[in-house]
Amino acid sequence: MATTSVATAQQSNFANRILHGDCIEVMRQMPANSIDFILTDPPYLVNYRDRGGRTIQNDLDESWLKPAMAEAYRVLKQDRIAVMFYGWTKVDSFFEAWRSAGFQPVGHIVFRKSYSSKSRFLRYQHEQAFLLAKGRPPLPKQPLGDVMEMPYSGNKLHPTQKPIPALVPLIRSFTLQGESVLDLFAGSGSTCAAALLTGRTYTGVEMDDAYFQQASERLIRVDQRVAAKRSSGSGIPTRV
Ligand SMILES: C[S@@+](CC[C@H](N)C(=O)[O-])C[C@H]1O[C@@H](n2cnc3c(N)ncnc32)[C@H](O)[C@@H]1O
Repeated sequence: MATTSVATAQQSNFANRILHGDCIEVMRQMPANSIDFILTDPPYLVNYRDRGGRTIQNDLDESWLKPAMAEAYRVLKQDRIAVMFYGWTKVDSFFEAWRSAGFQPVGHIVFRKSYSSKSRFLRYQHEQAFLLAKGRPPLPKQPLGDVMEMPYSGNKLHPTQKPIPALVPLIRSFTLQGESVLDLFAGSGSTCAAALLTGRTYTGVEMDDAYFQQASERLIRVDQRVAAKRSSGSGIPTRV
């Protein structure tokens, strides 16, 4: 059974842990070619602040972008996939960072939201992510459509919390049971929770003290619920 603990970057075993720190530094300590799938939601570089005043670290200065993508590429196994959300206003910066790291774009996903996050020239009601390859990953037997629904997460734990039901199909499509999933910008731990719920191992990295705490506590709750569901023989919980 997976266990969650507050860990430091010095630990050699990164499986089933939320690590507190800068993802560039943490990934530098991870072995090359050790991760089966990356699913991550970096700061969009938009200086976001929600109605409650919550903000996101590194959401303005993009100096982290290239080194973080270079490390993500290094730790991902050869012939595997990364899915990375991004802010469309900074698509040129993200794309340059992915390309210079070595990633090849092999798909683009639009996540349709039932609400608009902003209204200006358009009502902005989708999120987006690139599907990025390291090498030549095998094709999935039943490829997902590249337009997906994204229900509202409620953003209780994090101002830009991604809903677990939008993440689970991606993890299932690009990994097998027991394989490893990395989220280098873990926030409240949504990707890590989705990985644990689907029987994969997770590694999350979060630098913000409060969000790190939220993610750590959340993964303990998810772990307990998965264990309880397993012992009662019922299905996996999706709202955690
Ligand atoms: C867009 S949010 C991720 C939200 C997450 N998907 C969720 O569902 O909660 C990006 C997160 O990356 C964190 N972050 C920013 N720069 C970082 C870095 N260099 N290393 C680790 N975490 C970082 C921020 O604190 C923020 O919580």
